[in-house]
Amino acid sequence: MIGFSRPAHQFVCDGVPLSAIAEAEGTPVYIYSAALLRERYQAIDRAFGGYPHRLHYALKANSSLAVARLLRESGSAADANSIWEIELARRAGFPPGDVIFTGVGKSAAELECAVPLGLKAINVESAGELARVEAIAERLGVTARVALRVNPDIDSKSHPHISTGLKINKFGIPLDETRQLVASIPRRRHLALVAIHVHVGSQITATGPLASAAALVGELAVEVRGHGVALEYLDLGGGLGISYDHRHVPTVEQYARVLTDSVRSTRLPIVIEPGRAIAGPAGALVARVVDLKPRTADSDFAVLDAGMTELMRPALYGAYHRIEPVRPNAASERQYEFVGPVCESSDVVGRDRMVPTLEVGDLVWIADAGAYGSAMASNYNRRPLPAEVLVDDGTWRVIRRRQTLDDMTALESV
Ligand SMILES: Cc1ncc(COP(=O)(O)O)c(C=O)c1O
Repeated sequence: MIGFSRPAHQFVCDGVPLSAIAEAEGTPVYIYSAALLRERYQAIDRAFGGYPHRLHYALKANSSLAVARLLRESGSAADANSIWEIELARRAGFPPGDVIFTGVGKSAAELECAVPLGLKAINVESAGELARVEAIAERLGVTARVALRVNPDIDSKSHPHISTGLKINKFGIPLDETRQLVASIPRRRHLALVAIHVHVGSQITATGPLASAAALVGELAVEVRGHGVALEYLDLGGGLGISYDHRHVPTVEQYARVLTDSVRSTRLPIVIEPGRAIAGPAGALVARVVDLKPRTADSDFAVLDAGMTELMRPALYGAYHRIEPVRPNAASERQYEFVGPVCESSDVVGRDRMVPTLEVGDLVWIADAGAYGSAMASNYNRRPLPAEVLVDDGTWRVIRRRQTLDDMTALESV
């Protein structure tokens, strides 16, 4: 079995005991399954079958160089959210023509760098940004390939903090304005409109919003054609949710069917930007219990050496991650509030969890931390970024060493 499982008395990643990695590299440590990363990419790719499509892995989910390179080698293209993610993508081997530049606040400096690169598209977020891209392209004497990100005013039914498709969200261009911009394209010589883009949120577990958003993009594509502009593809964003808590989420086949059915009549290829659905389940965070103390009559605090600095999602939006002892060794169970070591009461990793009774020094693993785990980690409380380990074909290697205080202060002066 690939990924994380417990074939005998302890959890393993692709057959390698998590405890062996933790002993060698210390904790906290992120551990990724190369086999599962490949499988997740391939499963989504396969699900689209013969419908022309391309996956642009969303680097924001996990942009560790080795992870990006592995997905590049698996056939993925990339979605980058800043000029630094674009540069990261290039270092991981993605040619500029395989990179889409998304993001709501592209600075003038970022656009200056991006326009001449020959990216697959700059996904534009406003009329002002389109004008800025155009001005740079004109000055450089090039044609910028752009996609317009439409804000469809659709509720993704995800957590409000990761919903991006409503009018009140900062993302995208209102529908009316998108139509006006589309109409202006034929007279703008330095812009090539190659796609319409939509992304209504992340961790989406209902297919309805995805279908509505895709259908709207399909309708817009027809209007674009009416202006004599030939789009190359439709960019339907990322957002497919994963099951953090064993609850039902759409299968990749259902997801692909919903998207293809919604836009098939346009006969345009689909681009998607999955991040979480590829990297999430392929990674775990392994931590050690550093203290236990009473909380209520029925529960204790289990203080871990990992918290919001290593996995911000629970503190940021109450996200749920499964937490289990790496080597469950007790016959009894107890309820714990898993908390981190950070000086914030919001530094809770998991609330009210019944697990086999723990002792100080035990290892626990936190599931589905491959996406938005290391990517969102911080140095708060001067905590060093953990090591990252990639398990591949029965062996493992450090793909990022643990940060030191010297690394942290290297940019500082007194
Ligand atoms: C424009 C865009 N594309 C893709 C993604 C990746 O989303 P997910 O990781 O949910 O697939 C995001 C993240 O929110 C995004 O903002």
